[in-house]
Amino acid sequence: MNNLKQVTHIDNVKMSEDGTAVIIIDQTKLPAKTDYLTLRTARDIYDAIFELKVRGAPAIGICAGFGIYVLAKSIETGNYEDFYSRFRQYQEYLNSARPTAVNLSWALRRMEQVVVKNRELGVEKILELLEQEALHIRQEDMEMCRAISEYGLSLLKDGDGILTHCNAGPLATSRYGTALGPLFLGKERGMEFHVFADETRPLLQGARLTSYELYKAGIDVTLICDNMASLVMKNGWIQACLVGCDRVAANGDTANKIGTSGVAILAKHYGIPFYVLGPTSTIDLSCKTGADIEIELRSPDEIKKKFYEQPMAPEEVKCYNPAFDVTDHTLIDAIVTEKGICRAPYTESLAALFH
Ligand code: MRU
Repeated sequence: MNNLKQVTHIDNVKMSEDGTAVIIIDQTKLPAKTDYLTLRTARDIYDAIFELKVRGAPAIGICAGFGIYVLAKSIETGNYEDFYSRFRQYQEYLNSARPTAVNLSWALRRMEQVVVKNRELGVEKILELLEQEALHIRQEDMEMCRAISEYGLSLLKDGDGILTHCNAGPLATSRYGTALGPLFLGKERGMEFHVFADETRPLLQGARLTSYELYKAGIDVTLICDNMASLVMKNGWIQACLVGCDRVAANGDTANKIGTSGVAILAKHYGIPFYVLGPTSTIDLSCKTGADIEIELRSPDEIKKKFYEQPMAPEEVKCYNPAFDVTDHTLIDAIVTEKGICRAPYTESLAALFH
């Protein structure tokens, strides 16, 4: 396998052969080490999602699908009512790990539907169907990412300078990624891009994961601090911004990693197209606007201590650490999905995807 394929086809979330565990790459250890973790219990799976060992909206959804199957399998009863009640408890627990990325609740609800709709078939058969559904979720994600990569690539030209924020590559999905997908696909076809990766404070997904994936695939990548984005845009080095998404509201307002909305505002100022790329599973029409999206708040320690040898601020200092922000739909030039490229007015173009 060449390096490019090693990156785009990485199995970062999979099920153990006997179906009793979810196996993930611990993304908090990258790029220094590629450690695999075996998740067997509800607590293992919850912690892996909460601590961002597995992260990125689609990858979280895939992990939740496999995870709830593994937990369902461990329920020792043949009685449907008891089984469903335990299933719901696991579902609620896993769903509480992170609130913003809709793929978590989406995948869990999809799995729950299998349980509800096949009640008459009995627990043993339901378990079989749950396994198939979890595998479908991953398979569909692979196909969606590939299609998003094709549509995204149609918006770019050979030699373009690209700015990206956070990590929306293969590690955040199943294959190729969403925002990074067009770059890998273009590389496969002999195109060259010059990518500027925001380091993405405070958890450094851009530095630890995006620059690592692109570099390993042989794509020209330059790491910058988040506050350097304006300068590289002003220098004329950026022809397009590509970002992923954690939840897209019906009007196109998009929640993505904290700092994304700032990039969009800068892009507007410099007249650079700003594209959001994500599967339709990340679109949540039940949220009318971005104001309906719950934003995850995380520990101050991630800002003050996490990646430092010693604390970088006094213990008592107040700290505000939202994990996501919402980019206003007016700043977004297109939302690229596996079903096509949506343009404003998004209330119409996004709704049309579901008809
Ligand atoms: O907190 P994270 O690392 O899970 O945040 C991830 C992002 O914001 C990604 O851009 C998003 O999930 C899209 S991944 C294809």
